[in-house]
Amino acid sequence: MPQDLRARVLEQEELGGGCFRMRLDAAPIAREARAGQFVMIGLPDPAETLVRRPFSVARLVPDTGEPEALEIVYKVYGRRTRQMTRFRPGTEVALLGPLGRGFWIPGEAEGTEVLLVAGGIGAAPFPLFLQRAGKDLAGRTTLFLGGGTRDDLLLVDWFRERCGEVVLVTEDGSAGERGLVTGPLAARLDAPPRGERVVLACGPRPMLRAVAELCLARDVPCQLSLEERMACGFGACLGCVVERRHPEGEFDRYVRVCTEGPVFDAREVLP
Ligand SMILES: Cc1cc2nc3c(=O)[nH]c(=O)nc-3n(C[C@H](O)[C@H](O)[C@H](O)COP(=O)(O)OP(=O)(O)OC[C@H]3O[C@@H](n4cnc5c(N)ncnc54)[C@H](O)[C@@H]3O)c2cc1C
Ligand code: FES
Repeated sequence: MPQDLRARVLEQEELGGGCFRMRLDAAPIAREARAGQFVMIGLPDPAETLVRRPFSVARLVPDTGEPEALEIVYKVYGRRTRQMTRFRPGTEVALLGPLGRGFWIPGEAEGTEVLLVAGGIGAAPFPLFLQRAGKDLAGRTTLFLGGGTRDDLLLVDWFRERCGEVVLVTEDGSAGERGLVTGPLAARLDAPPRGERVVLACGPRPMLRAVAELCLARDVPCQLSLEERMACGFGACLGCVVERRHPEGEFDRYVRVCTEGPVFDAREVLP
């Protein structure tokens, strides 16, 4: 059940590449949040609290046990994310969440290999995935972390400590392999599988489209976390719709990213 509360900023850290990590005192939301779900954040000024912006719940604090706080990782794009960089410990924000449908996490017993694919700030939902997955599944998980340059690769050390394997890819070759993140992903998908596989992807639209096509062509299950501009975040404004791949009729052509998503089966939507 989503909570609408005021949350204190506990920490704010600049990560580089125009990205920041912000910790919020929001235990009721942190306890409920599943990987891929998001919160809507409103600025502290009462006149601005209704204009909110969506951010993935990135990580829970502490790492294990009952969560007391949550973190978001965000990139500065425009007015509101720029204002967020000025929040200091003690600033109060309006926080609504957790919202949306998150990733389906395969059961520990299923032996499934998980391939996470992140483009830049698209890495944001994956720390929570690894925290919720548990040690065995995290050990069977490979993260393909891509960006334009090395500064775009977020939380690399944190991921290396918790993930079975981390494959870095940059377009300029400043870290890891040179190229697009879909290169090593395609190579892995073409290698003999170790067992059942599932791909979870979050990042820019062109990357999601390419990941979806790679997986659909090989019949590998794939979940995509989509981003759309959002006004309400809870299904009321219809501002966030995307097209279904196979609508059954005119009334079935679109789905709302905020409520039916943001995570979709790649067979469901056209990213
Ligand atoms: C479900 C969901 C989860 C999200 N999770 C995160 C997250 O964890 N971390 C994060 O940093 N962002 C995340 N986003 C995106 C984030 O909500 C936007 O970046 C933010 O709303 C921008 O607000 P702004 O007021 O700073 O920019 P605006 O003033 O609204 O936009 C400024 C300019 O930047 C462009 N722009 C805005 N957002 C983006 C974008 N995402 N990509 C490219 N161009 C953009 C606009 O078109 C405009 O030209 C998520 C979005 C959704 C829908
Ligand atoms: S953001 Fe309002 S319906 Fe999705």
